[in-house]
Amino acid sequence: MMRGGMARYRSTAIAAIGVAGLLAVGACGNGGDGGGGGAKDKDVQVFTWWADGGEKAGLDGLVAQFRKDCPDYTFDNAAVAGGAGSNAKQVLANNLQAGDPPSTFQAHAGKELKDYIDAGQVDDVTQLYKDFGLDTAFPKNLIDNLTVDGKIYSIPANIHRANVVWTSTAVLKKASIDASKAPASVDAWIADLDKLKAAGVKAPLASGKGFAQEQLMEAVLLAELGPDKFTGLFDGSTDAMGADVAAALGKYKRLLGYTNSDRDAIEWSDALGYVNKGQAGYTLMGDWVAAQQLADKVPDAAYTYWPAPGTQGVFQYLADSFTLPTNGKNPDGAKCWLKTVGSADGQKAFNTKKGSIPARSDANPADYPKYQQSAMADWKQDKVVPSCAHGSACTLGQNESIQSAISQFSAKQDVATFQKALAAALKS
Ligand code: GAL
Repeated sequence: MMRGGMARYRSTAIAAIGVAGLLAVGACGNGGDGGGGGAKDKDVQVFTWWADGGEKAGLDGLVAQFRKDCPDYTFDNAAVAGGAGSNAKQVLANNLQAGDPPSTFQAHAGKELKDYIDAGQVDDVTQLYKDFGLDTAFPKNLIDNLTVDGKIYSIPANIHRANVVWTSTAVLKKASIDASKAPASVDAWIADLDKLKAAGVKAPLASGKGFAQEQLMEAVLLAELGPDKFTGLFDGSTDAMGADVAAALGKYKRLLGYTNSDRDAIEWSDALGYVNKGQAGYTLMGDWVAAQQLADKVPDAAYTYWPAPGTQGVFQYLADSFTLPTNGKNPDGAKCWLKTVGSADGQKAFNTKKGSIPARSDANPADYPKYQQSAMADWKQDKVVPSCAHGSACTLGQNESIQSAISQFSAKQDVATFQKALAAALKS
């Protein structure tokens, strides 16, 4: 059933997002509490890109808790499908510009959030931290990432890890590769990819479009430059035109040579599907994969996971957070949503299903599935670096430029041109 709110999404979004986006918009409106007939005073319109699979399972967990905590309000699902917000971000930008903000929307902590702050599209929620007792619930470095000029603009729901490789134990077995251990470096990984090719696996490294390739590239830069030089790419202290960056991009090009030829057409979840169906040995993807495996009931023994080769001991993080949009619909209902998002129960209901770990520091690992327990331990002890693809280190505009360079590189594979485009994007 199409709700009144979603009809508005349709009309404002069509021009900008084309057919793929339209299909995505068509996926909206499921799971709302209301009985149709237009937006109601009680509706809390929640805008995300968690429309299916493990991502929707995570959202559903949070919604169940919201229903308990906020019985005076109803959840109105404004999700727009497409990994990493590939369609949603454009729809959201259009709606914000048209003066039609939802009650709350998801945004990444860090540079991406600053885009919305600078545009005056989100309200200061510092007082809510006091009201809900959140000042001490989150780690200080995360709060710093959400704070601009002493004000806090969103409430974090989780911490995700980007630099993870997921394997098929059965496929790796074909080439006598031990799936339980990460290759020590990108070079060692390439040697294993060669073994898989020799064993008859045509495209041993599965990848998807846009952000999935960007994540692969980031992981190679992180491995080859090390955490400090990698982080320096985003504050200008590392020269993006340097010879070491060129060499790393050369290795990224080699990795692309092992990927599926339809990589520019498929979603991250389809790339994971290649691994699960035994057509590929690996995919590099954030730990929302853990949730997808649960949703798809992939047995534990069928796969392993480890930090991307050469990034052992480094946790490349991103955090989803929820905002209070300026002049948004039903701000009181939105505040109730934000209270659930920040609460211990809300974080448990969400993160046990989403593959992420709670942003709060007071969670009990025993309440979480096996994957999240290992991520919680790593989060405590590893060196933490930001993700560009998921907004902790890069703005929305930078990511747009990088992804356009990524797709050109996927087609033309010219390292020098790619490096120039990347360096220009990082400077912008
Ligand atoms: C990220 C987001 C994650 C997950 C992923 C894939 O940007 O932070 O929660 O949804 O995209 O869609």
